[in-house]
Amino acid sequence: MSAPVLVIKGLQVSYAGNRAVDLAELTVAPGEVVGVVGANGAGKSTLVNAVSGWSRGAPRVAGQITFAGQRVDAWPTHERVRAGLVLVPEGRVAFGRMTVEDNLSAAFAAAPAPGRRVYSRDEIYELFPRLAERREHLGQQLSGGERQMLGIGRALMMGPSVLLLDEPSIGLAPKMVSQVLETLRALARTGLAILLVEQNVRAAIEVVDRLLLLERGRKILEGPAREVGDDPRIAEAYLGATAA
Ligand SMILES: Nc1ncnc2c1ncn2[C@@H]1O[C@H](COP(=O)(O)OP(=O)(O)O)[C@@H](O)[C@H]1O
Ligand SMILES: [Mg+2]
Repeated sequence: MSAPVLVIKGLQVSYAGNRAVDLAELTVAPGEVVGVVGANGAGKSTLVNAVSGWSRGAPRVAGQITFAGQRVDAWPTHERVRAGLVLVPEGRVAFGRMTVEDNLSAAFAAAPAPGRRVYSRDEIYELFPRLAERREHLGQQLSGGERQMLGIGRALMMGPSVLLLDEPSIGLAPKMVSQVLETLRALARTGLAILLVEQNVRAAIEVVDRLLLLERGRKILEGPAREVGDDPRIAEAYLGATAA
């Protein structure tokens, strides 16, 4: 495995004094898919949002985020994106009133570093033929699965070397879940580093190399997917998520 492209150290994120994430270390290497699982409210979104420098509220973020050898934790989101650290946010279409085609056209990589693969719109249509069929449809008319494909497609056109995904399986039909997650696996084989946040533990375990279990913002378990898959704490998190 090559050296990590994303290294997170001592990350602490709080909302109005309440600690939502407290993570000693998390790394992702090129070609690797790392899964972060945990129940609703465990801090998964807060984590990937902090890494991308984006947030819904006004969290206080402390700690070190090193991306491709550079400290980026003081950088604004757009500069992290330009450097290749790209978040596919939770279940939203960038521009609901724009067509699929225009949504894709609006995504572009500003002067990406050499060696980074920037997908063209046609390559996104090859990767997701369903999007090609829907190219004239408005973003807001898409199904959950199609929205995820559009979000991933837009992200790939920005030339990521690290892709962060926030619950790409949420609201998707089971067949669509495996299709989207298998695509992520295939992208990792091209050298992309992927940090995948999921509440759907069973689906995540099928595609990740390594899995972290978060509980109240802290890592309570980490290991190769094959080994931690049988851990009772993972089963509990899974049952908790299904019961919810
Ligand atoms: N914008 C916000 N303002 C205040 N508290 C928040 C905000 N977003 C999340 N939280 C709190 O932070 C904790 C983690 O939330 P979140 O990261 O959304 O969890 P998950 O994505 O795992 O469901 C929860 O206790 C949640 O209530
Ligand atoms: Mg979330």
